[in-house]
Amino acid sequence: MLDLPYRPRRNRKSPAIRAAIAETWLAPQHFILPLFVHAGTGIEPIGSMPGCFRLDRAALLQEVAGAWAEGIRAVILFPKIDEALKTSDGRECFNPKGLVPTLIAELKRQWPELIVLSDVALDPYNSDGHDGIVQDGKILNDETVEVLCQQALCHARAGVDIVAPSDMMDGRVAAIRDALDSEGFTGVSILSYTAKYASAFYGPFRDALDSAPKFGDKKTYQMDPANARESLRELALDEGEGADMVMVKPAGPYLDVIRLVRENTTLPVAAYQVSGEYAMIKAAAQNGWIDEKRVVLESLLAIRRAGADLILTYYARPAARWLQA
Ligand code: PBG
Repeated sequence: MLDLPYRPRRNRKSPAIRAAIAETWLAPQHFILPLFVHAGTGIEPIGSMPGCFRLDRAALLQEVAGAWAEGIRAVILFPKIDEALKTSDGRECFNPKGLVPTLIAELKRQWPELIVLSDVALDPYNSDGHDGIVQDGKILNDETVEVLCQQALCHARAGVDIVAPSDMMDGRVAAIRDALDSEGFTGVSILSYTAKYASAFYGPFRDALDSAPKFGDKKTYQMDPANARESLRELALDEGEGADMVMVKPAGPYLDVIRLVRENTTLPVAAYQVSGEYAMIKAAAQNGWIDEKRVVLESLLAIRRAGADLILTYYARPAARWLQA
């Protein structure tokens, strides 16, 4: 026998002991379900995201009813916009009769208690496929922020609970806060995509919305994957500008950044398990190479353990069901 005073395995000896001392756990109220919507009819599969669909109004209502029954209380909408409505200034993004404001109003009418979030950025609406207005191959900052304010106001008038600017323009949180307050929307929250990286993991999302940049990449506004410290600078700015919650994106490959942000703010922290993270797990699972349920729950637990309060994940509904079972 080894003479061991310390045997950590004693704390793992039964399911009851393990459950009693678990430091982190998952529950459906931590999840925000991203939903793709379109103005067409019916549902359209998304090739690179098996199990995810572009939903029409009726399918959206059905999806949300299912999610609500499973304990999910928050959804965020991402629109696929008809090519004919895309312009260089992306002005469809603040059309009060547009797809997103119409569906926000519909969701709030049917589920007043549901937390409805909207993405604020121009890429689905912009003929260049960039998050901002493009001129001579450059993404304009201040001109873009003006349009983002219009977009946030349009969503607020439709009844959105939280706007989530994902564009990474400088100064947009303060400008959006001002715009909202000046129209009396002091109760509308801002969840800022604070540390959003120029990531290859967004590929399937851009397929879903047909929103890939028509030229170049997003490296002049989204962050360099090499940088963690820089997230603290974005965090300080977003806090100062009045963000109510902050986000790190992607999630799994950036757990260190989630931890860093967690330790440097008192605000709630969200993390986005993005389309590429979903697609990788799904593809391996479909090949029978991994156990989908266990890998998904472990990946989400890891994001929570790193310090995220909230997780945006395409796996929200299956995860909620697996947690119940
Ligand atoms: C748009 C936006 C993107 C995502 C969320 N909002 C794509 C991008 O920045 O290119 C990605 C989400 C995902 O990959 O699941 N600003």
